[in-house]
Amino acid sequence: MDLAGKHFLVTGASGALGSRITRRLLDAGATVTASGRSEQTLAGVDLGSAHLVASDLTHPAAPADLIAAAKSHTGTLDGVVIASGVVAFGPAAEVDDDTVDDLLLVDLLAPLRLVRSALTEVAAGGVVVSISGVIAEKPVGGMAAYCAAKAGISAFVEAARPEARRRKVRVVDVRPPHTETGLAGRAIAGTAPTMPDGLDPDAVADRIVKAIADDEKDLASTDFS
Ligand SMILES: NC(=O)c1ccc[n+]([C@@H]2O[C@H](COP(=O)([O-])OP(=O)(O)OC[C@H]3O[C@@H](n4cnc5c(N)ncnc54)[C@H](OP(=O)(O)O)[C@@H]3O)[C@@H](O)[C@H]2O)c1
Repeated sequence: MDLAGKHFLVTGASGALGSRITRRLLDAGATVTASGRSEQTLAGVDLGSAHLVASDLTHPAAPADLIAAAKSHTGTLDGVVIASGVVAFGPAAEVDDDTVDDLLLVDLLAPLRLVRSALTEVAAGGVVVSISGVIAEKPVGGMAAYCAAKAGISAFVEAARPEARRRKVRVVDVRPPHTETGLAGRAIAGTAPTMPDGLDPDAVADRIVKAIADDEKDLASTDFS
């Protein structure tokens, strides 16, 4: 996929991976609609010439509205990169209901709605990238609801792949290992266990953008080593 001249929507663009992916797409000559939860946070991040759209993806209509807003910016949409997400920690039985609801909204329902809208709005030859995570392959204790959300969106993307192919749209599930983005320190509940050093966010963003450009169809945790 030649990125020059293409138009992408990146969600989570105020975040560590989303901002890096946005800058790399811009450097490759793409136009980017960069979205984050709030205008204020987006404004504080270097997102170059990206077109900024604030959208809280927990609202049921927000994913479809965001896809429509991105498409109307240039009249076409060639790619969507879903890099929004939150994490929470704690024993499965003890994490409170509101936290579980928020996790499932942001990490499962919102990306699922984004993928559904993208399937009808992304141009033929385009791509939809969803970042789930290594825990979609290997769930771990102390973050069961996060694992469930990520495994759920990973399964949805895989199941939608043949349908997307018929529409000439590539859907890619990306499962990076733990990466030093500070995400664990922004947990919406609980405290992260001690973890071994994670990957370099620049290397992870490079690998994801390479997968987009090289027409890769899946990016497993092992593809980052
Ligand atoms: N870091 C890792 O180790 C790792 C590994 C595997 C997969 N992942 C996944 O990769 C994705 C990006 O993670 P990251 O490490 O870059 O995290 P990050 O820096 O915390 O970025 C998360 C992004 O999601 C946005 N977001 C959160 N809640 C939202 C909502 N309700 N509506 C719209 N946007 C919302 C945040 O917006 P604000 O800036 O406004 O909060 C931020 O832009 C996540 O899905 C994460 O689960 C991360």
